[in-house]
Amino acid sequence: MIDATALPDIGYTTIALGLIVLGMFHVAYASYQWNRKYKLPPRVPGIPILGNSLQVPAVQQGPWAKDLAAKYGEMFTCKFGASTWVFLNSSRVVTDLLERRAGIYSSRPPFPMTQDVMSRGGRIVLMPYGDRWRLVRRVMHNILSGRNQDIFQPFQDAESKQLCWDYLHNPERWFSANGRYANSVIMSVVFGRRSQLDDKDVEELFETVELFLEQQQPGVNLVDAFPSKEIAQMDEITKLFVFGSLMEAGSDTSRVTLGQIIAGAITYPDWVQRARDQLDSVCGSNAERLPNSEDRARLPYITAIVKEGFRWRPNIAEIGAPTVLIKDDEYEGYRFPKGTVFTWNAWAIALSPEEYEQPERFWPERFLNDDLENALKGHWAFGPGMLALLSPFACLFFPSPLSQAIGRRVCAGWKVGETNVWIAIARLLYCFDFHEVPGKPIDTMRIPQLAGGAPPFPARVSVRSPAHAELIRRDCEAAVKIHY
Ligand code: HEM
Repeated sequence: MIDATALPDIGYTTIALGLIVLGMFHVAYASYQWNRKYKLPPRVPGIPILGNSLQVPAVQQGPWAKDLAAKYGEMFTCKFGASTWVFLNSSRVVTDLLERRAGIYSSRPPFPMTQDVMSRGGRIVLMPYGDRWRLVRRVMHNILSGRNQDIFQPFQDAESKQLCWDYLHNPERWFSANGRYANSVIMSVVFGRRSQLDDKDVEELFETVELFLEQQQPGVNLVDAFPSKEIAQMDEITKLFVFGSLMEAGSDTSRVTLGQIIAGAITYPDWVQRARDQLDSVCGSNAERLPNSEDRARLPYITAIVKEGFRWRPNIAEIGAPTVLIKDDEYEGYRFPKGTVFTWNAWAIALSPEEYEQPERFWPERFLNDDLENALKGHWAFGPGMLALLSPFACLFFPSPLSQAIGRRVCAGWKVGETNVWIAIARLLYCFDFHEVPGKPIDTMRIPQLAGGAPPFPARVSVRSPAHAELIRRDCEAAVKIHY
């Protein structure tokens, strides 16, 4: 007699075993198929499931990614959980993929926490391609480029005068003054409100953008003065994030770059004297007048300093800003699947001797060439996308599967950012000396982006001469008193 109760057990075990074998076969076959179809650059070894996630430092990933580039060459692959990242470590491959094929390489991967939960999908910098991104990008472009550039100039003038005033009266708060300056220019344009030194709102900027909308002043500001058809199409959340994103993207970037140039002045002081010689020849060697933006053509060295400041230690986006490939693609023997994440390894490229002579040196002369006035050329601080942006005919020369026009991910505020830094640094170099604090050398490879209200590195600031102090008192006081 057969014991009927034993039958189901045998059956279930067999079925379970069968399913496991089938599953393993399926995984092996899928992996075989995948490997036949796709080929990625050398893989940095990691651990199962988490891949390389535990190897990445929480902040300042630049040096980590630079070391890997030195080991693996122009491209390498990492796994972060389920997503596969390809790091591009030379200008050559960044140009080939992120610029020439921008049409398929410039969407954003999903950011479930920072974009979906914290931003309700509203932060442009994290938005994937789509109608919403195109709309927001168009609005940003209208605000930040072309004719509207003129809107920024009077604010940059007044705020950089206040910057000199703050340096004169509170030299030990130089880093807060940089933050106030950068924030106040964009805040004045967008919300018609200035920021004060150690402004609590500025400190809270990165905690909440809503605050800025609540506190916006009525009157002459972009929020009120932008009755464009694009704005009319936006829902409240999108509007909130357009102006909030402007504040976020527009403040910290200029502040950080000013800090980098000051660190460069302290650690490589030779160029400061050459900058001074040119400033003195234009504005007088005895503090006759402040430099202004009309002097730009006669101050090419300042323009070169600003470019070098963007290149030197690119710590705004040390490992670039990740983008996602939206369809399968082939490049130099590699076959990338749709969904692969790409990024330009900013730190590795900026500090590579293959790309720049004496890369660690702060050396503005490297930018004194025919491309001097092209703020995007010669470094990647604003991200790739220059080809698509600069040449309306680029798509004829570098055809891509999709239109180049949608491939523009390059920083939307690069003109404002460049001019912010230009006028501030011209005036600071004309009026102030920057020194190392004795016994406290600056580790320029480890300057933190956010230092929680403390200076990002030790520095001593002093006014250049009594005549320069007098110039600041005479020419800058009126700017300090402006209230609106
Ligand atoms: C001063 C130096 C600045 C630097 C170094 C900088 C750098 C960057 C970088 C690396 C990106 C990402 C680009 C990419 O994904 O390929 C970006 C995006 C962006 N930046 Fe800037 N930025 C600066 C100033 C500004 C300013 C002043 C504004 C606005 C007032 C601004 C607005 C934006 C916006 C809106 C985006 C998002 C563009 C998009 O995703 O379509 N930036 N910036």
